Amino acid sequence: MKKLLFVNSCIRKEASRTLELCRFYINCFMKMQKMSGADWETEEIGSDILGSLRPLDRSELALRDSLLAAKDFSHSMFDQAKKIISADHVVIGAPYWDLQFPALLKIYLERCSVTGLTFIYNDEGIPAGQCRADSLMYITTSGSPIGDMNFGYEYVHGLCQLFGIPKTYFASAEGLDIIGNDAAKIMENAKVKITDIIKEIQSS
Ligand SMILES: Cc1cc2nc3c(=O)[nH]c(=O)nc-3n(C[C@H](O)[C@H](O)[C@H](O)COP(=O)(O)O)c2cc1C
Repeated sequence: MKKLLFVNSCIRKEASRTLELCRFYINCFMKMQKMSGADWETEEIGSDILGSLRPLDRSELALRDSLLAAKDFSHSMFDQAKKIISADHVVIGAPYWDLQFPALLKIYLERCSVTGLTFIYNDEGIPAGQCRADSLMYITTSGSPIGDMNFGYEYVHGLCQLFGIPKTYFASAEGLDIIGNDAAKIMENAKVKITDIIKEIQSS
């Protein structure tokens, strides 16, 4: 059975418009896979789990270095890295905060980024990504237009190159907090775009 890993950093939970788009995407994705006879399951890493992760501090970094040197990945600090490696498709849901995304997501990504697990350096010092997934979908919503300040998605796209996830996709509903904008219409348009992306993923 294949696995869709949903990293849900939508802090406002059920009130989150980003989460609404993520649920729409995942429902459509699963339906499409079912219709084509593929067997998929979903695992969600919710904002409560993300909130329980801590940034690496000095003592944990020292412990991590010693474990990496011993190639001992049994410690729970490597759990998130192991999960992302074995996922077949990754979905990140992140509201657009401060030109990027909530800090919770950064801590999660720090926990995923482990030399020897998510990427391995060859003898020439070139990293080879170890993730099984061939694609990642990044979904956001924003108060204003994002324009060329899409730093959250661009950062995740860069990490995917390191982790060995070759294709990344982006969908957003932007300008939702601008007075006079029709937020419901913007959300509907985002869902149309999401449906197109799913078709593209399916045909690739
Ligand atoms: C802490 C915080 C930071 C935000 N920063 C930005 C920002 O930099 N640019 C922007 O356009 N909107 C910003 N917003 C507005 C949100 O992006 C917007 O309301 C979004 O739809 C919230 O997503 P949600 O409904 O999934 O929680 C911010 C909101 C919060 C709470």
